[in-house]
Amino acid sequence: MDDLRIKRAPRIEAEIIVPGDKSISHRAVLIAALANGPCVLRGFSRSADCMNTVVAMRALGIMIEQPEPGVLIVHGQRRKLSAPKNEIDCGNSGTTMRLLAGILAGQNFSSRLVGDGSLSRRPMSRIIEPLRLMGANIEAEGDQDTAPLRITGAPLHGIKYTLPVASAQLKSALLFAGLFAKGKTTVEEPVPTRNHTELILNYFLVRTQKDNNGGISVFGDHVPESRDFSIPGDISSAAFWLVAAAAQPGGHLLVRQVGLNETRTGLLGVLVRMGAQVREAIEDVDQVEPRGTVEVTGAHLKATVIQGREIPRLIDELPILAVAGALANGTTIIRHAQELRVKETDRIAAIAHNLRSMGAQVVELDDGLEIHGRAPLHGARLSSFGDHRIAMAFAVAGMFAEGETVIQDVDCVATSYPGFEKMLSELANPKGIRTTTQVITSLAPSRSED
Ligand code: S3P
Repeated sequence: MDDLRIKRAPRIEAEIIVPGDKSISHRAVLIAALANGPCVLRGFSRSADCMNTVVAMRALGIMIEQPEPGVLIVHGQRRKLSAPKNEIDCGNSGTTMRLLAGILAGQNFSSRLVGDGSLSRRPMSRIIEPLRLMGANIEAEGDQDTAPLRITGAPLHGIKYTLPVASAQLKSALLFAGLFAKGKTTVEEPVPTRNHTELILNYFLVRTQKDNNGGISVFGDHVPESRDFSIPGDISSAAFWLVAAAAQPGGHLLVRQVGLNETRTGLLGVLVRMGAQVREAIEDVDQVEPRGTVEVTGAHLKATVIQGREIPRLIDELPILAVAGALANGTTIIRHAQELRVKETDRIAAIAHNLRSMGAQVVELDDGLEIHGRAPLHGARLSSFGDHRIAMAFAVAGMFAEGETVIQDVDCVATSYPGFEKMLSELANPKGIRTTTQVITSLAPSRSED
């Protein structure tokens, strides 16, 4: 298990791209596998999580070629999957396990989904209960309705279901199950979550219906139309560098070809509220997922409150936003984020522990954090808690700390962002990285607070 050592970094002045979006990559390979022919997926995330989904679909009889890094050719079999010979290992990936469970519930064979220690502690009753209402035969072998999951394929029927938690994974599990269910499956969500599943279903010409309450319906028996698809960069990976640049007065970063789906860009509005200058230009919506360039110019940040409907739009960015809070003047408050307690680790506890170790004053709330900035951070020996986003958020914190920061057990970074360490060292030693000489002019005016 490797350690990562970080020293205070010089001001960022760079133009970068980030790897393909993890959430969209999972969905792309799943839908392509169900389609009526081969699909070429470009910009596919090489993260361990997404490779778990690829390996799982291969185990279900789908041929998937990888002619070059980031490119997959998925040979869709018109919704025909075959029984896996062994259990399917979802590794650390909640998205793999939950979305796949939706698909497997409606097959005519049995399967067993297992995960690593972290995934085996994460709540699965949220998918088990509604899938059972659809007729699924699904058992959790863990003590608290946790993985491994044993799924005996069964005929499903559509239901109308209101999500009790704001979870795109749950919504997507039900929509995928709905593709194999008799009749109409409708999912309503009290607070909107990322809509990648809905968008990719539309792109693959699967009929969906939207009602006035924001409910989304799918219908069984639809074969997705195979189409090539290109995946934009992951805004959740870009987030680490965007915050790093935003918290350095005069720091300047351009991220190109990054996904700018509104259900994912809550971070940008928060950075504006904190005093950074943020501009974004959507350059391409051809493939339903908006993508373009984000430009951030840094400032002395000021504290903000992050809560309510904003939370699902930046749920994965809260660890790095907590670091931004520690670097900002005033008290930053994060609330309504109790979901952080059931991510790859209890992120509320992990953030509080690590920020305190670096000298920040932090109050842990049941559903969030109160972070008293701006403390002079000092280097420390920190645990990643086996959680990729904790590891990366605190690597960025190390860029602002006096002395050396050591993050233990950083192998987990590959879960979402292989290449993170390389980018970190390039930004810390800017020779060789492409720097911006002039601000591009095509960007829309500065994003205002939202
Ligand atoms: C994801 C949804 C979010 C997010 C996770 C990926 C997805 O989880 O935290 O990293 O791809 O649907 P929830 O839907 O459980 O909130």
